[in-house]
Amino acid sequence: MDSYLIGLGNNDTKTRQEASQDFVKFWESQAKKLDWFESWNTPLEWNPPFAKWFVGGKINASYNALDVQKPDKIAIFWEGENEERQIVTYAQLLDSVQRLANGLKSLGVKKGDRITIYLPMVPELIVSILACARIGAIHTVIFSGFSAQSIKDRIVDSQSKLVITADGGYRRGKIVKLKDVVDTAISDLDFVSNVIVFQRTNHPITMTSKDIFWNVLLEKNSNICPPEKLESTHPLYILYTSGTTGKPKGVLHDTGGYLTHVSATFRWAFDIKDSDVYFCTADIGWVTGHSYVAYGPLLCGATQVMYEGAPDYPNSARMWDLIQRYKITIFYTTPTALRMFMKFGDEIPNSFDLSSLRLLGSVGEPINPEVWKWYYNIIGKTKCPIIDTWWQTETGAMMISPLPGLETIPLKPGSGAHAIPGVDLAILDESGDTVPAETKGYLVIRKPWPGMLTTLWGDDAKYKSVYWSKYKDTYYTGDYAICDKDGYFWLLGRADDVLKIAGHRIGTAELESSLVSHNLISEAAVCGIPDQIKGEVIIAFLVAKEGVSISDELRGQIMDIVRKDIGAIATPQSLYFVSKLPKTRSGKIMRRLLKAIASNEKIGDVSTLEDGAAVSEIQSAFDELQKQIRSYSFSS
Ligand code: WTA
Repeated sequence: MDSYLIGLGNNDTKTRQEASQDFVKFWESQAKKLDWFESWNTPLEWNPPFAKWFVGGKINASYNALDVQKPDKIAIFWEGENEERQIVTYAQLLDSVQRLANGLKSLGVKKGDRITIYLPMVPELIVSILACARIGAIHTVIFSGFSAQSIKDRIVDSQSKLVITADGGYRRGKIVKLKDVVDTAISDLDFVSNVIVFQRTNHPITMTSKDIFWNVLLEKNSNICPPEKLESTHPLYILYTSGTTGKPKGVLHDTGGYLTHVSATFRWAFDIKDSDVYFCTADIGWVTGHSYVAYGPLLCGATQVMYEGAPDYPNSARMWDLIQRYKITIFYTTPTALRMFMKFGDEIPNSFDLSSLRLLGSVGEPINPEVWKWYYNIIGKTKCPIIDTWWQTETGAMMISPLPGLETIPLKPGSGAHAIPGVDLAILDESGDTVPAETKGYLVIRKPWPGMLTTLWGDDAKYKSVYWSKYKDTYYTGDYAICDKDGYFWLLGRADDVLKIAGHRIGTAELESSLVSHNLISEAAVCGIPDQIKGEVIIAFLVAKEGVSISDELRGQIMDIVRKDIGAIATPQSLYFVSKLPKTRSGKIMRRLLKAIASNEKIGDVSTLEDGAAVSEIQSAFDELQKQIRSYSFSS
């Protein structure tokens, strides 16, 4: 068997030992590494499923990220898509954060108010996040690829009174007109009192009486704004993520627990040193960007590269060029990006000097062993450990990962190894029993952990039902996993209807409701099928209304609706028109059957997977659907 470099020589056994003795005490010891204005009196209040960490403690995220760091150290090497460059020190970040924080206050923003942030990947995005944190406003960042309707839904749900955006951003050489999208999103939202506009592209935009330019606001406000001493349990942010039902859910994170978990995992996983240059390719619109671009590196005083655009723009050498130029030592990316780079061949990365690298990471979806090996051999030149980090928007930070900053263990391509210290994971069967080694089951978390979501914004009932109703007092992740004989976890993908497209979460229900909003479509069902680059792509099955003829025009209209409702990332790769959807007797769409049809699998592979449906029923639905597909399907 191939052998893989196992770590960086660290061998700290004490940390795991302490964690296994008393997980609450252990997390307290990690929390103490942060700067608190006042210590807590209760480390954990656990009223299942509601947890409060470090109750009574007072802390501020921006203070920990900036004020306590070395002022002259470089925080960000920023690289625009158009190769503009900027270097930002910790002192400069702090200056801008305090000005913006005062600016927000001058516009009437108070502790607990929600602020929506819709910005490209520019340093001002980090400044905005930390300015909110400084005054106790709750930020909700929206990925800049989302549509006006998606933004509107999120602003309405969070009742944000202010939006921070830019005139535009660059994506593959084109200007994405963000301000126009915001204008549409808030056109009838009177409760949004102001929009702060950062000028990135400088193309002409219309300013309304609500709008204020970023530069004007920062210039007229002082650069002294003492950090608000916030309760540890004070909400830090809402991040909307897709689930299996209806509209996206607002995952709510607190301050003290979240910062503890993020900073500890950043140290353990990345073995961060003062001299490191770290680069995480995630967009801050997703949770990886929140925890490991905005918060993690700054809490640990690290220097990072922040890149604005598409990873393969203007060509597929972009990432390798960045690594060579900035002498990046730690590179954290996604399997989708790696599969794409791998497709372009070894010659391109081989023509760059990647010798500065000492640690590689992967996140967001399972990494195929072939891709892992390519990453290890071609990018890491067999000298860098790879950390395959499993976690979720809801967990706040890493839960499973090799931790080279802590210990030295053999790596297995495609496995994230073990749970991090202080986290109790198990794999259960349908009835709640732990499955034996090598057996597939549902991954669950049995004890509260500091980075955990505290609830879903404004919906405790849904929080309980989505995550805590399958098993008693146990968090249900929605992922399948197995644990091998050596105790290594292998993640096997989602057990529910959440799709993972290029590592991004898309909810089936949200997409289906967008599809049926076309007046000629009566029913829709979507599923993901395997794709060599993106991991999964979306396939939609549609039932058109009686007498409707299927045309390219109709298909175009449907794609436009999805783009408008959600964004381009949610557009299906293929549309199949059928006369009826296969359903169980209880009315549930047989999604796995659709998936099997679309991926040309045999019925035998799916027959046991449909809850509550008889094999004969599935067989006849399958035969019926195949007949229809043959008679009048078409793909885009
Ligand atoms: C999947 C992203 C396998 C998983 C940080 C999880 C992974 C969902 C991995 C959360 C990994 C994330 N290996 N699968 N290393 N990391 N996932 O909320 O299905 O965007 O439940 O968080 O991504 O996606 P989210």
